[in-house]
Amino acid sequence: MAEALPVYEGAVDKGLEGVVACTTSISFIVGATLNYRGYTIEDLAANSTFEETTFLLWNDRLPTKAELEKFRKDLGAEMSLSPELVATLKTLPTNVHPMAWLRSAVSAMAMFDKEAQDMSPEANLRKSLRMTAKMTLLVTAFDRLRNKKDLVAPKPDKSLAYNFFWTLNGTEPDPEIVKTFDTCLILHADHELNNSAFAARVTASSLSDIYSAVVSAICALKGPLHGGANEQVMHMLKEIGTMDKARPWVEDALNNKVKVMGFGHRVYKNGDPRAKILRQMSDRLTAKLGQHHWFEMSDLIDDAMQNKKGLLPNVDFYSATVYYAMGIPIDIYTPIFAASRVAGWDAHIMEQWKNNRIYRPRGKWQGKENLTYTPIEKR
Ligand code: COA
Repeated sequence: MAEALPVYEGAVDKGLEGVVACTTSISFIVGATLNYRGYTIEDLAANSTFEETTFLLWNDRLPTKAELEKFRKDLGAEMSLSPELVATLKTLPTNVHPMAWLRSAVSAMAMFDKEAQDMSPEANLRKSLRMTAKMTLLVTAFDRLRNKKDLVAPKPDKSLAYNFFWTLNGTEPDPEIVKTFDTCLILHADHELNNSAFAARVTASSLSDIYSAVVSAICALKGPLHGGANEQVMHMLKEIGTMDKARPWVEDALNNKVKVMGFGHRVYKNGDPRAKILRQMSDRLTAKLGQHHWFEMSDLIDDAMQNKKGLLPNVDFYSATVYYAMGIPIDIYTPIFAASRVAGWDAHIMEQWKNNRIYRPRGKWQGKENLTYTPIEKR
């Protein structure tokens, strides 16, 4: 007689809600506050830069002036795409979703990194720096390649935010746009055990390499319930089209149980602090660039969602109009999220390896039991 199968009587934590899967000291959410390494997101958004925030995430402290200068220099030294990599990138189709392309591009990047399999902490830090410096360039390279334009060489002495616009458009960007974009990068850099960071940690926990873990994270971020929501928000605003249609559109969506992108959150139930900062940025920037109607429409939707469903905007809602006002193509909003979040993913992967145990949960059995194999001719 077949042995009785074990039955897991406990409730299944669907979506792992409330499950504590590891200890971490990278970022933490308490109520409606978010901090990175003990500093509030508001403090960092107002005072830091993406480069400094990345140093903070990887080193658990703010850098001195000399350390920051060195860090920026090291990032600058990695700010290029090798001819071999560019040749490979040119063979990839560009009529695909940019996140699918980015997934392959980062995987290809690993093929040309001689340190790809070196698991030493020093090599992993170097690879983190490399990936962070190059991810922005990959995003803009995708857009230029699909538009049959030559790639633009980055300026290594400038920030990643500056180089995003420089390598995307090949023209000198407006300093206020660069500053606002830099703040967006800070806001997206990490977020505790979010879906993609968890995916990265799960891959890292099998002692796979850092590139593989980051590619896993990119795959997870691509989904519309995670990073893919920001571009969906802009498509939604464009579909609504005019201000008078905003409230009826929301009512209709909620009546039909359609998820309105950019709202709701697994952890924040009283509002996402990043959305508050992005809301102000959207208000200011859309006004400056003559596109305030997008902010006003977003505001109406925000109000309707709160009144009808009690749901508040998350990081993706107002970032959509910020990027749109900046003239960034809608389908590269999620790749931009990746170019920022790679700093957090790397921090999580390196933290995972400091205290590793392979992730291997169980599933509660719901299938058939004790069947006997029937030869094919008797079925
Ligand atoms: N629009 C409409 N209803 C929503 C909603 C949204 N954006 N987000 C949640 N809800 C509703 C659900 O339908 C559910 O309602 P019900 O209890 O009447 O069935 C309830 O709120 C709980 O939502 P649930 O999907 O169980 O929450 P979750 O914790 O599993 O998922 C998100 C969290 C973020 C995935 C979810 O809110 C969502 O899909 N949001 C839209 C996508 C998005 O913006 N993602 C970016 C996250 S930063």
